[in-house]
Order: sequence, then structure tokens, then C-alpha cells
Amino acid sequence: MRDLSTHLDDIRAAFEHQIALYGPFVFPDKVRADLSTEEDSKKVISDSPRVLSLITPPDIYERIEALIPSDSPMHSMTTLQEVADYVANTHLIELDKTRLNPVFGVGNPNADLLVIGEAPGADEDKKGEPFVGSAGQLLTQILSAIGFERSDVYIANILKSRSPGNRDPLPEELKAHIPILHKQIALIKPKLILCVGRTSGTSLLDIDSSLKDMRGIFHDYYGIPVLVTYHPADLLQNPNWKRPTWEDVQLLRNKYDALTA
Ligand code: URA
Ligand code: URA
Repeated sequence: MRDLSTHLDDIRAAFEHQIALYGPFVFPDKVRADLSTEEDSKKVISDSPRVLSLITPPDIYERIEALIPSDSPMHSMTTLQEVADYVANTHLIELDKTRLNPVFGVGNPNADLLVIGEAPGADEDKKGEPFVGSAGQLLTQILSAIGFERSDVYIANILKSRSPGNRDPLPEELKAHIPILHKQIALIKPKLILCVGRTSGTSLLDIDSSLKDMRGIFHDYYGIPVLVTYHPADLLQNPNWKRPTWEDVQLLRNKYDALTA
């Protein structure tokens, strides 16, 4: 049976979607007065910071910052450069010791669109920059086809360090590094996110789902619309997936235009 909190989650998601599309809003006084006359709804509201955050417009980026462990030194950092320096000088996992270079991210620090991949490969490890190998070149072309230069957007990965032999990242490696991405989102404040590849989508959204099920729709991430599509490295192997990817990035472009109009 669906309990009250499930309904509240649905309502919250619907509001967050509206906020993402139309900007923050508050309930008119009348609605607020009605809510406050109901003893039960008062209790629900006081018990639920999520509902409260609708009444006073939420800062979605503060809520993403709050995902970072409370003892992380990143909380006090206010620029991407500070965070990049911290990442370069810190070993959070074994891969951070074997990498040639950390691959922090690149692009417009105030980008409205954030593109998120999985992990650096050999070329990225050498250069310290995401998506510069063959898959990266295809990503650059895909972005260009919908009117974005690399410098318009910000590009990062879930994992900042290459794994030897490009094995799949381990869940604990992703878990250790994703707070860095949370901090990047909190600072960049993108209006829209594109995840390329299943791992990127499942790690960011914290869901277990197939790429087929995730693609083609916008997911709600604390009010930020997220589109998940095929990874360009997979497109190089499976040209059949280029068509659905093209459809996805058209949706992305339209959403971008609507959000930045
Ligand atoms: N694949 C990724 O997911 N990220 C990169 O930076 C390069 C290849
Ligand atoms: N290295 C790259 O440059 N591209 C990939 O897709 C994977 C590894």
C-alpha cells in the first residue's frame, strides 16, 4: 500500500519538476493558511523537511551539497579550483595512487549543462582531461551537432581516476568519489544534466536500472532534469544505438532551450 510519505514524495517530485521548469515559487498565503489550520497537515509539514522546503523555496544545490559526508573538507570550499587541488592532493581510494593524473573536469564553471561520464581512460589519464580519446571525440561531435562547444558546457566523470586496464569501477570506488561530483554540481549549479552510459546514470540517480529503461525521459535529481543516454564508447561498438542517442540529445537541446530562455 502506498503510504503518506510515498504520496508526499510524488508531490515533491512534481513540484521540483515545476521549479526546474519555471523557477522557485511559494504557496500563496491562502493555501498556507489552509494548511496551517489542519492539525494533521501541520504535523506532516513539521515532520517533513522536504515539504517545508517547498514552502520556503528550496535551494536544490544546497541539498546536493548536503549529500557530501559531513566530515569532508570539501564543505568549506567555494571554487572548483580549490576542489581540484584537493582531489589532486588526496588519495581517497587505491586508484588515486596509481593514476598518472586526476581527471577532475573541464569547461564552463557556470555551465547550464553538465555532462557526466563514467571514468577516465588511458588518454584522459595521460592528459588529465575528460573525454579526449576516441569516445571523447565522438562526444564532442554529438555536442556540436546540438549546438554546444565543449567550452559551453562542463564535462566530468563520476570517477576521477583511471582504473588499470579500464576495468569497470567498483561500487566502493564510485561511492568514494561521487561526493566530488556532488560538490562540482553544488558549485557549477547546472540547470540540466546529461549522463552518458549506464554507470553514470545509476550512480548519479542512485537507482539500479538498465540504460534502455533510463534513456528517453527526464529524471528528476533534486529538481534538476537529468537525461541518460548511451555512452559514446558504446556507440563506437554499436552504431544501432546512434539513432536513439540522437533522439535523446534532441530532447536535451529542447529542454536546455526551455530552461535557459
Ligand atoms: N569515458 C568516460 O566515461 N569518460 C572519459 O572521460 C573518457 C571515456
Ligand atoms: N579511453 C578513451 O580515450 N576513450 C574511451 O572511450 C575509453 C578509454
